[in-house]
Amino acid sequence: MNDDTSVKKGVFAATVRASRRIADCFYRVRLEFLGAGAEAIGKCAPGQFVELDLSGAAVPAAKYIPEDLADKAQRNILLRRPFSFADVTAEGGTTFGEILYCVVGPGSLRMTTLSAGDVVSVIGPLGRGFWMPQGKRTALLAAGGMGAGPLLHLAKVLTEDYSDVKIIAFAGAKTAKELPYERKLDEISRQLGFSLAEFAAHGIESQVATDDGSAGYHGLVTDCLVEWLKQEDVRRDETIIYGCGPEAMLARLAEIGAEHRIDCQVSMERLMACGIGVCMSCAVECRTERPGVTVYKLCCKDGPVFEGKEVVFAL
Ligand SMILES: Cc1cc2nc3c(=O)[nH]c(=O)nc-3n(C[C@H](O)[C@H](O)[C@H](O)COP(=O)(O)OP(=O)(O)OC[C@H]3O[C@@H](n4cnc5c(N)ncnc54)[C@H](O)[C@@H]3O)c2cc1C
Ligand code: FES
Repeated sequence: MNDDTSVKKGVFAATVRASRRIADCFYRVRLEFLGAGAEAIGKCAPGQFVELDLSGAAVPAAKYIPEDLADKAQRNILLRRPFSFADVTAEGGTTFGEILYCVVGPGSLRMTTLSAGDVVSVIGPLGRGFWMPQGKRTALLAAGGMGAGPLLHLAKVLTEDYSDVKIIAFAGAKTAKELPYERKLDEISRQLGFSLAEFAAHGIESQVATDDGSAGYHGLVTDCLVEWLKQEDVRRDETIIYGCGPEAMLARLAEIGAEHRIDCQVSMERLMACGIGVCMSCAVECRTERPGVTVYKLCCKDGPVFEGKEVVFAL
């Protein structure tokens, strides 16, 4: 896995190659990068991110605007928006990056109108992504809601680069409808005995948890993970937990890591104005080696991936 933060970032023009709705408010957009963009984005590690300029994207027709966004929909998009890739593939001199996203505001709403041939400006790859410490034999990927994207990318890279590491994915959401995964390959998943097609495609077993029990384990994805740990005999020092999702979930993952003496990396989210370490809007409080002494690190530059034990979660 490429965790070299010195990979050259830049501002690149990406051409939209496909854009589709995969479920309720969840979409996937496929971007094509050529030349220097292909080289830079091709080295994007899972968990790193890009900043998208969505100011030129059209506002959808009124009937496609969710009621709760009616007021905000027409706002100018002044700042770029951060997104991680759910998949990166290099073919010849071309790199494709796919973003899995949810419509939550004016920027992501405009993303839904992007169509094949549109060009968007992208800055990246940015920040520090997930990394693989030496000696790990089991990787437990815990995704809460939209945390799915970077962990799908991680799942693919781990299967390619670390074939001796056993990977299990845990995917949680409030309800089955809020699981941001495609359903059309479900048949294949069932045949393999796995539950989520995107992970099954890489031969990765997955467990689903929903708060209301509408799919899989009835409860929090973190509880599902704890149950799994109780039942499975894995060597704690050879195991790593990777998490992406709401902050409360990441805080619990860090606790689980500490309780079970398992290394844990979490992908943090902060509002990001610049994405490149200039505006100081994305502070994450972190512990130091001196007990009780904390420092503020930048989510966009020092993260977004941090060691779970390091973060003082803002709950
Ligand atoms: C490193 C990183 C990677 C990301 N990757 C993805 C991804 O792959 N897919 C995806 O759907 N989203 C991702 N996001 C979140 C995405 O950038 C935001 O939801 C973005 O603000 C959407 O823009 P918008 O204009 O639609 O909504 P906005 O109007 O910007 O935001 C909508 C609402 O969400 C809140 N909000 C926005 N960003 C954050 C944040 N970081 N933390 C807490 N609250 C926030 C805002 O305050 C507002 O209330 C990522 C964020 C970060 C920091
Ligand atoms: S977003 Fe500006 S410093 Fe991090």
